[in-house]
Order: sequence, then C-alpha cells, then structure tokens
Amino acid sequence: MAQQMKLTLSVIKADVGSVAGHNRPHPDLLKRAEECLAAAKAKRLLLDFCVSRCGDDINLIMTHSHGVSHEPIHRLAWDTFMECTRVAKSLKLYGAGQDLLVDAFSGNVKGMGPGVAEMELIERPSEPVVILMADKTSPGAWNLPLYKIFADAFNTPGLVIDPKMHEGFIFSVLDVKKKAVITLACPEEQYDLLMFLGAHGRYMVREIRRKEDNEIAAVASTDVLSEIAGKYVGKDDPVCIIRAQAGMPAVGEILEPFAFPHLVEGWMRGSHQGPLMPVAFHQANPTRFDGPPRVIAAGFQLNQGTLIGPIDLFDDPAYDEARRQANTAADYLRRHGPFEPHRLPLDEMEYTTMPMIMSKLRDRFKSVG
Ligand code: F6R
Ligand code: MG
Ligand code: MG
Repeated sequence: MAQQMKLTLSVIKADVGSVAGHNRPHPDLLKRAEECLAAAKAKRLLLDFCVSRCGDDINLIMTHSHGVSHEPIHRLAWDTFMECTRVAKSLKLYGAGQDLLVDAFSGNVKGMGPGVAEMELIERPSEPVVILMADKTSPGAWNLPLYKIFADAFNTPGLVIDPKMHEGFIFSVLDVKKKAVITLACPEEQYDLLMFLGAHGRYMVREIRRKEDNEIAAVASTDVLSEIAGKYVGKDDPVCIIRAQAGMPAVGEILEPFAFPHLVEGWMRGSHQGPLMPVAFHQANPTRFDGPPRVIAAGFQLNQGTLIGPIDLFDDPAYDEARRQANTAADYLRRHGPFEPHRLPLDEMEYTTMPMIMSKLRDRFKSVG
C-alpha cells in the first residue's frame, strides 16, 4: 500500500553568504539551490523539495525514501551549498561559504557545517508537518517551546483530552558538552526534564516520540553541534520538524508557545540574549542589532512525499502582540549594552577579546587575599 511507504523528511541548512552583511541570501543563491534540487528530483533521488530561507540561512527541505543520514542526500545538500557558495563568491557576498569551509574568514568561529534535522515516518492518511526555522540563535531556543508543546497541558490541551496523546511523550536530550543523550518521559519525569531544558546552552532537545507507540513526533538540528579547538560552538541557527494533528499536537498547539517571545542566545555576534520574534517569511530579515532573533514556521501537508505548501504560519495578526513584546524586550535588553545578562557569560560568547586583554593586564592584578 502506498501509504505504508517509509518516507524521509530531511531539512538541511547552511549560511553560505548574504547581503548586506549577515542579513539575507541573494535571490540568485536561492535560485541556484532550486536548480540543484530540481535536478536531483528529476533523477528521482528526491521525491520533492522546497527551498526556504530565514535571515541569512538557506533551508533545503527535501523528501525521499532513503532514510536518515543517507550519504547521497547529504552530498546533494553539500554540493548545493557549494554551488550557492560559488554564486555568493561571484557576487562578493558577505560570508560566502561560511558554514562550509573551515578556513573561510568571516570573523566568526569556523567549521560548524550545515545543520540537519531528519525524520523517517510512515505517512499517515493525512500528514501535516510544521517546520520551524530560526536565525541568530541556537538549537537551545527550541527547548522552551518543545516543552510547552509536548509536556505542558496549559499550552496543549490535547495532552489532557486526546486519548492518543494522554500517555505523554518521551524527550531525548543532548548534553552538548559530554556528547551524551538521555531520554526522559513526560509527564512522570517532567521536573527532571526541566532541570536540563532550563539550561538551554548545554542541554538541547534532539528528538521527541509519542509514548503510546514510540511514534516519532519531532526532531531538531542538534546533531552537528561541534567542539572546535576545545570550545563549544553551538549557535548554528536551528531547524525543527514537528508532526501535527490526529494524535500529535494540533498546528495551533505547536505555534502557541511562540506567542511568548522568550529569550534565546545568539543575537549580535552570537554573544547576546534576545527575544525570539515569530515572523512571516518576508519579515525574516534581522536588521536591528543584527536581530532580534527570528523564527518562521512553514506548514506542509505530505502527499506520498509531495510537499503541499509551504503555508506561512506566523503570517497572522494574532502574532502582532508577540512581535510588539519582542520589540519591547529588545529595547529593554539593549539598554544593558555590554552588561550581562544581555551579553552572554564569558565562556558562552562566540566572540571574545578576553585572552588578549588578560595577556596585556594579567600582571596588574594584585592579590588581596
Ligand atoms: C550573529 C551574526 C552577526 C555577526 C556580526 C559580526 O549570529 O551573524 O551578528 O556575528 O554581524 O559579523 P562579522 O564578524 O562577520 O563581521
Ligand atoms: Mg551569516
Ligand atoms: Mg544565520
């Protein structure tokens, strides 16, 4: 039966150059990405695709039947980003190839590589999915909304009144420092879970499954977080795939947490906290202090691998108030200038001059103990 076919939804993203500065990819890059993926679809490597972007990141949304971590799919994404890099270089765009070439200089910490979120599923009779894409933040940004969506009945009444969700969900959480994953079941372990999720710079939700049948419900792009030269590099502008409806959270339950523009890491130089502003596709252009951080939500129906959509889910005046609150929070935080908690703690900043300053001033510290 066609509906029993195993389908893979892969979202692979990278920043390979933008205009002006770290604002948005040039349309020629998006066009090139479309051409590359169209060629792969013609060769039947892909069933379907959609090229999207949030801020300066290009998101390749792809369906196929090859499972997760399939080398030709990953190579296709890599080659597509290489092609886009060539276009970016020819236009002298900013940060051309920045997420691909470890030695490409843009002033950022290098070598993070593309972000990946993939899930294999058996398409239900009707299969709605929501793909969240963010810029100027890290995968830890998903912790609060994912908790609310899958474990907080004040957000998701389905946890109380939908028989298929009532047993709860199981969260896989990555400790990015130890590179270890723990699974915790909700509701019974939710206080343990919150102890980890609250520390979103270190612990990040990687995957969520429905407890009743272990069905995959959500995946986030935590798997490429890397340590470079002993330093954790985590702000890789994350994506997240969430299945919706019919025993999964409703689309409205998935979007509801974003009515609160919570604080996330990654604003200006990856070194500041800022509110995550939910915006329509055309508003995903971080200009104020290179931000504030943005999130877009693309809704699709899958039809035997065909992507019907995208629907621009935050293109709704119902999110105007969240955007206004985000601007108010941004004003408030900005007034802190270089002071914490607007600026991140010393060991979490992506940029620092501390070693330079310390080597100059070390001898001027006089012991008072
Ligand atoms: C944040 C971001 C920007 C840059 C900033 C400095 O994630 O992308 O805020 O960090 O514009 O960029 P460089 O060092 O490339 O001049
Ligand atoms: Mg950039
Ligand atoms: Mg970005």
